[in-house]
Amino acid sequence: MDKPIVILAIESSCDDTSAAVIVDGNLRSNVIASQKVHEEFGGVVPELASRAHQLNIVPVVDTAIKRAEITTQDISAIAFTRGPGLLGSLLVGTSFAKGLALSLNKPLIEVNHLQGHVLAHFIEPPYPTFPFLCLLVSGGNSQIVLVNAYNDMQIIGQTIDDAAGEAFDKCAKVLGLPYPGGPWIDKLAKQGDPTKYPLAKPNIQAYDYSFSGLKTSFLYTLRDLLRERNLETVDQLAAEIPNLREDMCASLQTTIIDILMRKLKKAAQDLKIRQVAVAGGVSANSALRQAFIDYGKRYKWDVFIPPFAFTTDNAAMVAQAGYFKYLDKDFCPIDAVPYAKTKI
Ligand code: KG4
Repeated sequence: MDKPIVILAIESSCDDTSAAVIVDGNLRSNVIASQKVHEEFGGVVPELASRAHQLNIVPVVDTAIKRAEITTQDISAIAFTRGPGLLGSLLVGTSFAKGLALSLNKPLIEVNHLQGHVLAHFIEPPYPTFPFLCLLVSGGNSQIVLVNAYNDMQIIGQTIDDAAGEAFDKCAKVLGLPYPGGPWIDKLAKQGDPTKYPLAKPNIQAYDYSFSGLKTSFLYTLRDLLRERNLETVDQLAAEIPNLREDMCASLQTTIIDILMRKLKKAAQDLKIRQVAVAGGVSANSALRQAFIDYGKRYKWDVFIPPFAFTTDNAAMVAQAGYFKYLDKDFCPIDAVPYAKTKI
């Protein structure tokens, strides 16, 4: 009998330290240590993220190996996120992966974080068939990806400024909500009126996105409300306007989703593709998930929405991407260095 293919994967691109094990394409463990240290700063502090990764990486990898009920000798290859992400954070995962690969004499596989998000759709069925479109929306990216094969992807549209997750987080901060603001906006929007505060939508070429104008429009709406009432803080305003935060959240969320879905619909129609997926942290958003279901019904798409556990950063997706690369014998040299920015 052939030896099973065992991939140990490490993800450390931002503020989650994660390790996963996949055996013959089946996920055996996926351990994630999130970093609470950033909450009080309203955003990820890169230096603190690197230090927390250093503290977390050994126990996280150890737990992933134990939960998968394997030994280090069973490992066929070690996959790691090489980028894009925070350089200091990536360095911790990359260095650890290299050290382990050297000590165990195992091959290394580099994984692009964005490809990992897309390939998260192959962790559990139902799987999309090629070619399919994937809307990749996270704290750092907003892209429409044309996926031709596991290891053949093309970005056909992307944000020219902020990412969708960034727009959620920065607007949440203006409202005085904790970081990350996306889940808070999702929650409050459920009680809000999405038509109450009309916000600016961009007019951008082709399949590209822009969210900076929307952010400014959100800020100016609040500024004008404050001026009209001669008030200084959002708390004072919320005390005077019932449901202010809920209505602002609902208006913002509905505008972001409308911007995302219109471009995706255009791409799907132009390319005549009806297999459409969503990935990345923002795909946890309940209204975006519903929009996918609604568009799917209206335009006869087969829609693929990842389970919640695989929407945010996790090593399971890196393991899945690593497994496909292993099958292609696509290994990387031991001197591979991380990169902060890249295309797929
Ligand atoms: O992919 P991800 O975990 O990592 C990075 O890009 O770093 O995405 C994180 C982003 C954050 O901007 C967060 O606010 C957003 O995903 N997010 C959400 C929701 N859950 C997470 N945005 C909107 N609604 C949500 N429920």
